[in-house]
Amino acid sequence: MPFVSAAFFIGPVAVTAPLVLAPLAGYTDCAFRLLCREKGAGLCFSEMVSTHGLSYQSPTTERLLATHNDDHPFFVQLFGSDPAFYAAATAFLTTLPIEGIDINMGCPVKKVVKKGAGAALMKTPALAEKIITAVTKNTSLPVTVKFRSGWDSDHINAVEFARMAEWSGAAAVTVHARTWKQAFGGRADWNIIAAVKKAVLIPVIGNGDVTCYEMGQQMMLESGCDGVMVGRGALGNPWIFSAAGRPQTVHGRAAGLLRHLHLITATTTQGFPPDRFLAAVRGHAARYFTGLAGAAELRKKIFGSRNFEELVTLVTRLC
Ligand SMILES: Cc1cc2nc3c(=O)[nH]c(=O)nc-3n(C[C@H](O)[C@H](O)[C@H](O)COP(=O)(O)O)c2cc1C
Repeated sequence: MPFVSAAFFIGPVAVTAPLVLAPLAGYTDCAFRLLCREKGAGLCFSEMVSTHGLSYQSPTTERLLATHNDDHPFFVQLFGSDPAFYAAATAFLTTLPIEGIDINMGCPVKKVVKKGAGAALMKTPALAEKIITAVTKNTSLPVTVKFRSGWDSDHINAVEFARMAEWSGAAAVTVHARTWKQAFGGRADWNIIAAVKKAVLIPVIGNGDVTCYEMGQQMMLESGCDGVMVGRGALGNPWIFSAAGRPQTVHGRAAGLLRHLHLITATTTQGFPPDRFLAAVRGHAARYFTGLAGAAELRKKIFGSRNFEELVTLVTRLC
């Protein structure tokens, strides 16, 4: 079944397919983004990058910004709580080959929230407004804001927050339809996405609990959102971005994983060979076989591989 809406624009940036890859810390690096694009993702985001960290420009931060000719449109996501740091980070990002800047106002993690960043900004809308303005005023790139339904069920303010983001110059918003209190548990309430869509003129990307392509379509139909952001549902399942869906055979899944491993090799930057991230790579790899007979045995073998090369050999044999 075709999607209700095939494409939308974020400022001047065309998003040619409605399913987009979420920012996922530790997962959505250049290789995974390229793979998801090959399968149909219309837009990808970096994982969250600290505005303070950017001011030091460490090699680790640089790696988070690494991109590729085929890695477009690409939005870099910032987090922090000081408008001055956002302004400086924005000026720097605007010199990079990226299409947009996203602001994280939804992260529930304690050490982020404690510093007034992430979802804590939903409790301080005046500061959130200053931050969005600091970014929009310092770039010609489109700026998006990702936030939640609200702080908790007694403080649902996504609609007011979206309107504030729109006035402050945001070109689109993403609504993760859970409260801070829910973190990643419970169910996302797509009605909140529908309410935000009715309240603003800029595009609205809905997010929360989409685990297959058809559910993405369902979210669009139910909420009227312009695009659908997929997070956990894409891990080990880049096929989620295509109508054909996930192969149901070991060799079909292994072929996708092997492509992922090749992209990791192809995008390896100096000082960051694949072996340096073996734990993270194995974490991705182990998710590919979920739901198939023999998945537990395969996971064991994946975690038993002692280096990247061994993992490639194992996966090649499965293809
Ligand atoms: C491991 C992990 C890392 C995440 N990292 C980020 C991040 O860096 N920035 C962000 O805005 N959201 C982050 N999120 C939240 C997701 O982008 C998304 O909003 C959330 O998982 C809900 O979508 P889903 O139900 O499709 O997974 C993360 C979530 C997970 C599970």
